[in-house]
Amino acid sequence: MFLRDEAPGDEAAIRALLRDCFGGPDEADLVDHLRAAGDALVSLIAEEDDAIVGHVLLSPLAAPFPALALAPLGVAEGYRRQGIGDALVRAAVARAAAMGWRAIFVLGDPAYYQRFGFAAEHAAGFASPYAGAHFMALPLGGDLPVLRGAIRHAPAFADLG
Ligand SMILES: CC(C)(COP(=O)(O)OP(=O)(O)OC[C@H]1O[C@@H](n2cnc3c(N)ncnc32)[C@H](O)[C@@H]1OP(=O)(O)O)[C@@H](O)C(=O)NCCC(=O)NCCS
Repeated sequence: MFLRDEAPGDEAAIRALLRDCFGGPDEADLVDHLRAAGDALVSLIAEEDDAIVGHVLLSPLAAPFPALALAPLGVAEGYRRQGIGDALVRAAVARAAAMGWRAIFVLGDPAYYQRFGFAAEHAAGFASPYAGAHFMALPLGGDLPVLRGAIRHAPAFADLG
């Protein structure tokens, strides 16, 4: 398995991957809209046998400190449970930390994301349409600078069904 940044020409393969992963176009549309708006800050691909088998995207949030959203994350069905999702998340987290971002927020299954250090308690003080038990944050570079405030996702998220 090989991880790399998305490159021009990958768009259709990422779309196809996400449609298959999520059983519909919403997440594929989200990535296309984020990219078109210039909000696809980190877009990482996992390749195997020259095929794109996994993808993760980080986009900037409006937040009281520099913070990113991790969404979506997808690994092709035949390639799951081999650590590809894990490698994609860890690479994205490392990239965000190296760039000086102070947190990553994610909406997902706590059973999956807690292994990376994401926790609902870190996100609990932040107002967001996604707030709840599945809304988690991972502090980067130390504790979160503040524990309360409002989080606003990039505009493309408003189109998500
Ligand atoms: C979630 C997903 C990205 C995981 O990718 P993956 O490459 O299989 O993940 P990894 O191999 O790194 O990790 C697999 C481990 O996570 C666990 N896991 C996978 N999905 C999980 C989930 N939804 N909840 C809890 N644990 C999960 C597996 O049991 C496995 O644990 P094990 O290694 O101890 O057996 C992949 O299943 C996927 O694309 N699912 C459909 C799209 C989706 O739901 N994306 C997440 C949106 S937040």
